[in-house]
Amino acid sequence: MRSTPRPGAVSSTVRRGLVAAAVLAIGSTAAVATATSASAAVSCKVTYSASQWQGGMSANLTVQNLGDALSNWTLTFTFPNSGQKVAQGWSANWSQSGSNVTATALDWNKSLATGASTSLGFNGTWTSSNPSPTDFKINGVSCNGTPQSPSQSPSQSPSRSPSQSPSQSPSQSPSQSPSQSPSQSPSQSPSQSPSYSPPPPGTHVDNPYAGATGYVNPDWSASAKSEPGGSRVANLSTAVWLDRIAAISSGSAGNNSMGLRDHLDEAVKQDAANGSAPLTIQVVIYDLPNRDCSALSSNGELKIANNGLARYKTEYIDVIAGIMADSKYSNLRIVTVVEPDSLPNLITNVSNFQACQEAQSSGAYVQGVQYALNKLHAIRNVYTYVDAAHHAWLGWDTNFGPVVNLFHQVASGTTAGVNSVDGFIVNTANFGATVEPYFTINTSVNGQSVRQSKWVDWNYYVDEQSFAVGLRNALVAKGFPNTLGMLIDTSRNGWGGSARPTGPSTSTNVDTFVNESRVDRRIHAGNWCNQSGAGMGERPRANPVAGLDAYVWIKPPGESDGSSSAIDNNEGKGFDRMCDPTYTGNSLNGNNMSGALGGAPVSGHWFSAQFQQLMQNAYPPLS
Ligand code: GLC
Repeated sequence: MRSTPRPGAVSSTVRRGLVAAAVLAIGSTAAVATATSASAAVSCKVTYSASQWQGGMSANLTVQNLGDALSNWTLTFTFPNSGQKVAQGWSANWSQSGSNVTATALDWNKSLATGASTSLGFNGTWTSSNPSPTDFKINGVSCNGTPQSPSQSPSQSPSRSPSQSPSQSPSQSPSQSPSQSPSQSPSQSPSQSPSYSPPPPGTHVDNPYAGATGYVNPDWSASAKSEPGGSRVANLSTAVWLDRIAAISSGSAGNNSMGLRDHLDEAVKQDAANGSAPLTIQVVIYDLPNRDCSALSSNGELKIANNGLARYKTEYIDVIAGIMADSKYSNLRIVTVVEPDSLPNLITNVSNFQACQEAQSSGAYVQGVQYALNKLHAIRNVYTYVDAAHHAWLGWDTNFGPVVNLFHQVASGTTAGVNSVDGFIVNTANFGATVEPYFTINTSVNGQSVRQSKWVDWNYYVDEQSFAVGLRNALVAKGFPNTLGMLIDTSRNGWGGSARPTGPSTSTNVDTFVNESRVDRRIHAGNWCNQSGAGMGERPRANPVAGLDAYVWIKPPGESDGSSSAIDNNEGKGFDRMCDPTYTGNSLNGNNMSGALGGAPVSGHWFSAQFQQLMQNAYPPLS
């Protein structure tokens, strides 16, 4: 696992432009036309909305098929103004000739049932003005009339009603009705209310962490206890990583030897020993084909070109779901963290990395995540949290809007639609501070916004908690249920120790102010591998603030992010120079030093020196 910032799709100069002009939202809808021909009747609706700033834009389109089922589609439209250009698009192959733009479907979204919709979009540029296009066509037929009801068109079958879109159906899943969840209100956590009584076992509650005890992973706990001072944290709950097919039966990388059934059996025991509080166990689903497509240190065993998606489904997800569905585990609350880094890589890294390009064009990431969500959500006591990277990856507008759309599109394409997702997790295995205590995104220094500092670099967020809340708001506005809960991985983002600032800087220079005030002591926020100086962060706990289900420890502290030099391994993991302390960086970390600790083993393996430093720099400090 690695979590890279990869604002990637947008160069830093374009991002700098973001501040120069107010961001405007513009939109247009071209609705339906029906062309009746001897063969399939094409009838379509396209909505277009773009946010824009001086010289740049990010546009999202939804294509809805109101005609006969389509086995393939091509969308065309014309920019009204000759200075408008598509720079980089997603969820279609984009091209432009003069002012004419063409987007052809990808394998995974080319068939569109009657009533179904699909979302796509692009980042672009403009010169004098940026009017919305209106002349959308699907397969050459204009989408510019008003919707026709079936009765108005003899050529339309009754099955064409847009209300039959799969994305709109099963929102009535009883398991997710808020009324069934006594744990919804933060104030009802047992730690805060002695009168709390847990919901009946097996209920799908809103927040699986509320009122629950966390599972202690005996494998990790033993590693922690083997370190001097480690028993101070060895009884905290950390996640079980299923980082390859073999991990399901015999444990993940490094010191881990328990398989999934071993863990769930042990969880049942810990639950029984707990009294009435339910037990929450966290399992990371992490084996997509072409895994970790923009980096090397956590490359996986499955390859798209080698039947990887089919193997992922049958040898990995089906097996996991089969075990989790065993009735003897039905009283456990099983939280799954779904595929760290995968969907975010489709937003920022497709143009730079061949493995990500393949993940996008084949649809393997989208379909793999949808398959996992379908299987996992179907089990009543399993909870799904989809990985949403971190603020220094997705916090720029040009990445934020597109990832919200992608998450919505992916969830909408599952059987239960948006309800297949219980929440999202940020900062998995990363080091971003939960809260920067001495400045916010609204802080200015001598008339200059902190956004202008080199460290913040025009991002709209300075820490993980503001990002998680902002992302949640955007996802709910987009159509996710209001019960959506966020998690922050706080296992290694404490940044305590002697280098931690104790108050805001008094400098009037914005760069100096931010550098002296920030608790995140990384050299660059894009650094992600075994960061020197990091400490354990907030201990796991439920309902830390409104909108957040919990602070969690997903990356087990002490397990390496990647080897600091090339080491042979049989886990399919490569050598990523971001883990080499002598590496001087690349454009993704502003050509800075990697900030990685030396002497690190392959990812997932025990790294004693790192564990010791994480304890030493823990914040809040360990007692
Ligand atoms: C990394 C490794 C994986 C390990 C996980 C947790 O992502 O690639 O093998 O299980 O970290 O330490």
